[in-house]
Amino acid sequence: THPIRIAPSILAANFSKLGQEVRDVVDAGADWIHLDVMDGHFVPNITFGPDVIKSLRPYTDATFDCHLMIAPADPFLEGFAKAGCDILTVHAEAGPHLHRSLQTIKALGKKAGVSLNPATPDSALEYILDTVDLILVMTVNPGFGGQKFIAAMEEKIRRIKKMVGNRPIEIEVDGGITPETAGIVTRAGANVLVAGSAIFKGDSVDAYRAAIEAIRTP
Ligand code: DX5
Ligand code: ZN
Repeated sequence: THPIRIAPSILAANFSKLGQEVRDVVDAGADWIHLDVMDGHFVPNITFGPDVIKSLRPYTDATFDCHLMIAPADPFLEGFAKAGCDILTVHAEAGPHLHRSLQTIKALGKKAGVSLNPATPDSALEYILDTVDLILVMTVNPGFGGQKFIAAMEEKIRRIKKMVGNRPIEIEVDGGITPETAGIVTRAGANVLVAGSAIFKGDSVDAYRAAIEAIRTP
């Protein structure tokens, strides 16, 4: 089984000094950096694209975990791969051809992830289990940080954990993760925990470190 990894979402960081924020949160013990890309179409918010990610790449060697909340994703996959992302996660709902998107990511030499919105059933994963490296279970509706964890997702994580069996797939959760909800999701089978506001609400490297450790050991 995979180790527990903490992936701070820089959506909640200070955008005027993102490079420093990435460096600080890695110094504070972050395992991965979670990059939320939003297009104002698939989700009702806009963030940043490959050029910003490329400019952050020199600040750390940590894995860049890129969550693409864009539709369609396929025309942009190569750009995000070249920008330095290590994992490219597309939404099953983004369409039109999930399997093709995943094959494209693998052909670019990157790890392929698939994300499910809260309303999307786990059965959406049935025919792509042997094509993915990571499954991202949204525990809020994507678009904004600081939302409340949707309790019904605990059961969904459990079902996905069972479905994955002994395949080497990371199970990641995103949205409303705090030291309180971290225990629920890790017991259900998640091993990568994304957290934005719970970490970046702090105002120093020490505060980031305390928040990361509280989520890692709930
Ligand atoms: C939501 C994003 C999340 C978000 C999580 O659409 O995918 O990564 O930053 O923020 P918190 O941890 O504040 O719920
Ligand atoms: Zn995310």
